[in-house]
Amino acid sequence: MEQSNIATHAVATGPAGRAMAQPMDASLLEGLQQHLTMERQASATYWAMAIWFGERELRGFCEYLKGEAGNEQQHAAQLADYLLARGQTVSLEALAAPRQQWRNAEEIFAAIFQLEADVTSSLQQLYVMAERASDVRSTVFLDPMVQGQIASEHEAAHLLGRIRFAQANPAAMLVIDGELSEGKHAPASLA
Ligand SMILES: [Fe+2]
Repeated sequence: MEQSNIATHAVATGPAGRAMAQPMDASLLEGLQQHLTMERQASATYWAMAIWFGERELRGFCEYLKGEAGNEQQHAAQLADYLLARGQTVSLEALAAPRQQWRNAEEIFAAIFQLEADVTSSLQQLYVMAERASDVRSTVFLDPMVQGQIASEHEAAHLLGRIRFAQANPAAMLVIDGELSEGKHAPASLA
């Protein structure tokens, strides 16, 4: 009895009071928290863009971007789950008001492509930090996230290309809008 008590107390706990297998490198932890905020900010940005298209009767675009806002929230949730699994707490920082004024759809999708590229860069930095700290749990956690970003960049490039192809022609924009309403947003695949 005495022995098992000692064993129980020997388990390290993190700031959340939960059992913690490996302490986290301070800069990696800070980076993961910042990345969580970045995903929440991306969600707010997508939602603002969905509103922009909703105001212009392009319901397929609105639906697609609403879904993307949900995906970004889900990415933030995955980070929160990971921090909890590592015995850490999740700090929710203030978000900036998302941009709502845009000239046209092309400008929005160029911004989306850049946003996704920035998220990938942030993940790359986290990956380097995790490797430097010999934190294999974190590199394994980040692997599918980086993979997801490659797909997101690919999709954003595809939709930006299609919008450029349409050259703001209303009939062509309605064709893309109809496709998005049907959930067709994947780039061509040769596999
Ligand atoms: Fe994301």
